Amino acid sequence: MNNKQTPQTDDLSIQHSARQVAIQVITNILLQQGSLSTQLARHQQDVASEHIPLLKELCFGVCRQYPKLNSIALHLLAHPFEEKDTDLYATLLLGLYQLTYMNTPDHAAVHETVEACRLLKKDWATKLMNAVLRRYQREVDEIEAELESTPSVEYNQPKWLLKRFLKHWPEQFESIVDASNMHPPMCLRVNQHRVSRETYQSKLEEVGIKSTFGEFSPSALYLKNATRVSELPDFESGFVSVQDEAAQLSAHILSPKKSEKILDACAAPGGKTGHLLEVSDEIDLTAVELEPWRMEKIESNLERLGYNAHLVCADAGELDAWWDGEHFDKILLDVPCSATGVIRRNPDIKINRKPADIEELVAIQKTIIKNVWSTLKPGGFMLYATCSLMPEENEQQMSHFLATHEEATEVPLNSITPEFALEWGTEVSHGRQLFPTLESHDGFYYCLIQKA
Ligand SMILES: C[S@@+](CC[C@H](N)C(=O)[O-])C[C@H]1O[C@@H](n2cnc3c(N)ncnc32)[C@H](O)[C@@H]1O
Repeated sequence: MNNKQTPQTDDLSIQHSARQVAIQVITNILLQQGSLSTQLARHQQDVASEHIPLLKELCFGVCRQYPKLNSIALHLLAHPFEEKDTDLYATLLLGLYQLTYMNTPDHAAVHETVEACRLLKKDWATKLMNAVLRRYQREVDEIEAELESTPSVEYNQPKWLLKRFLKHWPEQFESIVDASNMHPPMCLRVNQHRVSRETYQSKLEEVGIKSTFGEFSPSALYLKNATRVSELPDFESGFVSVQDEAAQLSAHILSPKKSEKILDACAAPGGKTGHLLEVSDEIDLTAVELEPWRMEKIESNLERLGYNAHLVCADAGELDAWWDGEHFDKILLDVPCSATGVIRRNPDIKINRKPADIEELVAIQKTIIKNVWSTLKPGGFMLYATCSLMPEENEQQMSHFLATHEEATEVPLNSITPEFALEWGTEVSHGRQLFPTLESHDGFYYCLIQKA
């Protein structure tokens, strides 16, 4: 099996420094000390800017291929590394990733991995690392044949998650797994306040960037090939943002109107905050976010787009901390969730997410929904959203909420905008579930509730 696809630089000095930082990032992820995005944000300044693409390729790649690489590594090691040597395990995973998926010459991949043990001041492991990688080179076909019938290797997803996908979505199982393992497409949201989708597509064409219209969101443009945002015309002036098409549906569903008082309750990094303001910049928008460092992302997003909102750093569920008692006309509640619909964008989920997280998240969501609901005006709308594929966080969560709040009624997702065709996703017992698709949107869930 030849999985080597990624063209790589042959400048080994560049790979060397990117690898050291990648070892640190993967080690921290394995030790549950943060997500891939937080770790990369923290550590990418440790490499020169031209090495960042390689650093990302190594880190995203190891996470994306983790179930396979982990099985191979455990098969090769007589004894797993102790926790204090997690950095060596990360080094081994990176070595295996390079040997299996990158165009690094094999001898260089082995040599650099062995050298990395020395840089970690663990010279004792150099012989072991050398022996393990050489054995892999010799026996790659036998090892892959032996492991390929293991579900987590065959589907390259953690076993517990495969079981849940199969239980909840037997018909969509294969396509969910395929779409979750791929590189996601790059989707733009055109700020239609500033420029039409057609005009922006022509602007892209002029600089040689090909794109196609999204089928469901009137503001979505898919790029044929992913590109740096700095290459996008007028990106800094806020003409476009990078946002998945499924996520774009929320502002079209809520359709904010002039003077409405709107709450974006779990707002960072502010993708949907910006979109609500693009639909109408004359709304009175409050964005609440728990994490101060993520709040900064909302600020910079709004600054680029040229919009303002009341930004509050607080727990949305603790009303005493942030609410002034004035009710909202509309609420967007994009709660923290398992992100099982966006594994392809957050592949560290394959390492970090555990079954117990789902229960914990369901409880957190329950508290936020219940408390935020009381800030909605009678007659107002609350749009509940997740990027999860777990019914516990979605339709079951809504079922519980509706059963315990008699003043809450589920309404069709195009109740505010009847002209908005509901041709996306699958209707479930409450709301609509979108599944990740190969060339199109991510997995997402929406349910619209009106207060009597
Ligand atoms: C799914 S993300 C929101 C994405 C965002 N709506 C967007 O479109 O860019 C969930 C956010 O909720 C935040 N969060 C988690 N618990 C929260 C709470 N109790 N109150 C407010 N925000 C919370 C997380 O830090 C995270 O930024």
